[in-house]
Amino acid sequence: MRPPPNPAWHGPVPWPARLTFGPPCCTLPTLDLHAFVARHQGLLQQERAEEIAQQERLLRTRSEAELEQRGVLLRRLEFADLEPGLGGALHATLQQSRGGSLPPHRFAPGDVVAVDATDGTAVCNGVVASIRHDRVVVAIDDRDDLDLPSLVRLRRLVPDVTFRRMHEALQRLLRPIEPERRRYFDACFLQRDPEFSPQRRLEAPIDESLDESQKAAVLHALAADHIALIHGPPGTGKTTAVVEVIRQAVARGESVLASAPSNVAVDNLAERLLQKGLRIVRIGQPVRVLPAVVAQSLAVQVHEAPEQKLLRDVRHELRELNRKWLRASRSDRFELKREQRRLRAELRTLENAIVQGLLDTADVVLATTTGCGDALLSDRRFDLVVLDEAAQALEAASWMPLLLGNRAVLAGDHCQLPPTVHSDEAAKGGLATTLFERIANSPSGKLATRMLTTQYRMHERIQEWSNATFYGGKLVPAESVRSHRLTDLPATIETDATKDPLLFLDTAGCGCDESEGDDDGSRHNQGEAAVVSKHVQQLLEAGVRADQIAVVTPYSAQVRLLRDRLGGIEGLEIGTVDGLQGREKEAVVLSLVRSNERGEVGFLSELRRLNVALTRARRHLCVVGDSATLAQHEDIAVLVDVLQQRGEHRSAWGMA
Ligand SMILES: Nc1ncnc2c1ncn2[C@@H]1O[C@H](COP(=O)(O)OP(=O)(O)OP(=O)(O)O)[C@@H](O)[C@H]1O
Ligand SMILES: [Mg+2]
Repeated sequence: MRPPPNPAWHGPVPWPARLTFGPPCCTLPTLDLHAFVARHQGLLQQERAEEIAQQERLLRTRSEAELEQRGVLLRRLEFADLEPGLGGALHATLQQSRGGSLPPHRFAPGDVVAVDATDGTAVCNGVVASIRHDRVVVAIDDRDDLDLPSLVRLRRLVPDVTFRRMHEALQRLLRPIEPERRRYFDACFLQRDPEFSPQRRLEAPIDESLDESQKAAVLHALAADHIALIHGPPGTGKTTAVVEVIRQAVARGESVLASAPSNVAVDNLAERLLQKGLRIVRIGQPVRVLPAVVAQSLAVQVHEAPEQKLLRDVRHELRELNRKWLRASRSDRFELKREQRRLRAELRTLENAIVQGLLDTADVVLATTTGCGDALLSDRRFDLVVLDEAAQALEAASWMPLLLGNRAVLAGDHCQLPPTVHSDEAAKGGLATTLFERIANSPSGKLATRMLTTQYRMHERIQEWSNATFYGGKLVPAESVRSHRLTDLPATIETDATKDPLLFLDTAGCGCDESEGDDDGSRHNQGEAAVVSKHVQQLLEAGVRADQIAVVTPYSAQVRLLRDRLGGIEGLEIGTVDGLQGREKEAVVLSLVRSNERGEVGFLSELRRLNVALTRARRHLCVVGDSATLAQHEDIAVLVDVLQQRGEHRSAWGMA
């Protein structure tokens, strides 16, 4: 018989809930897994409906050029090839009619897309099968009445694959669990305290460059029988510690799956694991074009496998058959399709054997949380699953990797960016509460958690606001970074732009007004963009390299404006705060955008986003903002105060 349902899984009570039901002697809440899964799936549906509604609003109100700039539309594409694909699908290869690379976009394999004629008439829907810098392959239904125009455009529909896989992962939680994994799942659901076996020996000497608390966190994670958490403020070495956990697990001969919710965070892990000499396979598309990481991607490794010759032969045969198919009469096509199916099955078997062989021999398999839901991993079990940036992953997303493991190590910080949730209702209903957060905040979860408090990134001035606001003053800068400055870097000279670790360029009274909000809430500020550009120029003139600088802003409209102005500077990174989570730069220029008489600060009031924005810089943080607007918000007034009192406070007058 199932235990009585705990109201915590039904009502808008956030995880973790203290028990109200369950056996009288038990101090842990009793979980009704069916109710939990049903509730979470409902919340995901709500979230998806809201995301679709937002996208439709965008499409209705934007010009084609704006949509292309936002990366959700590719215009003027022509068919370069048309190949019969699996299950009666047609694989259409599209490229720019003028040739050359596709513009920057947000299309990815697995995305559902609409194929329209250039006048906007709908032709059909399809799924992106693969994408390269200059072409995109779309699988479309090969209907008899399909009439393809010579020029088309592709519209990205709200991605489906992530939702579908999260749904499936939740569903899989309801399947019977192997007895040896029971305790692991119970610990994740706070049904039992996590256990540790500290007597386990290390097979490799521990990395001596780690500090004592990092070493303790690594040993704690390695001793975990079920689950361990590494929690710490920005720059305290959480990723550094999990990399050491992985290295030690590999030395023990364990299989390891390493994951994170974003491609950038997975690439970040991949890069650091490569530096440790580990053999990795990166599933999915690496987004940062780091040659070292790209070379480790599964697609490239499959391409370079010795068995490729065999694959090439089958592909060649298939291509010949496809050409015949294009010219064949309808009656001949039937027979040709049968032959195609046979060859495709052969190709799939061959490819699968290569892929599984590569996964077998890798020390570490890496994928985003969504990538972990890929069918090619579904039958695998890993001794250890590591999830970095775990506080940014939805509960259902975290389960995609966790379901593949026998035990797990999660690293993160729930004072930094939470997962994006579009639907306020779903967020209120509990969707925004992450697995990491609910374990970290639970009484039994305290046993699982180790905290890191020495940071190795920021000058002490840079960390001050974050430390006081989020970490109760416990964050300590390591001696090596406490007073490091841009001017300590080779070739960087001391100027007004480089001498201060914390600089506030105040636009109050400078006429730098924000724009009206877009219908998706995004704003820009021309005046601030000019101030940012000038400061970046001054940093470059003082000898700071472009790749040591990041320009960040919470607003995507401001990112576009800044890219227009500064996009030509090679190596300079310009992006939203969200894209820089988990990463760092020597110098960061932050544009806060909001400047109005009403004192409206919009989503700057999500202080966890500001926490990420203000903790990416190692030696120099320049904040550009309007103190008169910002100081009207109670919490942000504290930041303005810190910037004015502890930083170098200058008016931006004359820079805009
Ligand atoms: N013990 C150490 N000695 C010297 N440098 C260190 C040490 N630990 C970490 N670092 C350095 O500190 C910086 C931040 O480390 P890391 O990225 O691992 O922190 P994090 O906690 O994962 O940060 P975030 O919260 O932004 O993800 C990196 O440059 C890293 O190389
Ligand atoms: Mg990190």
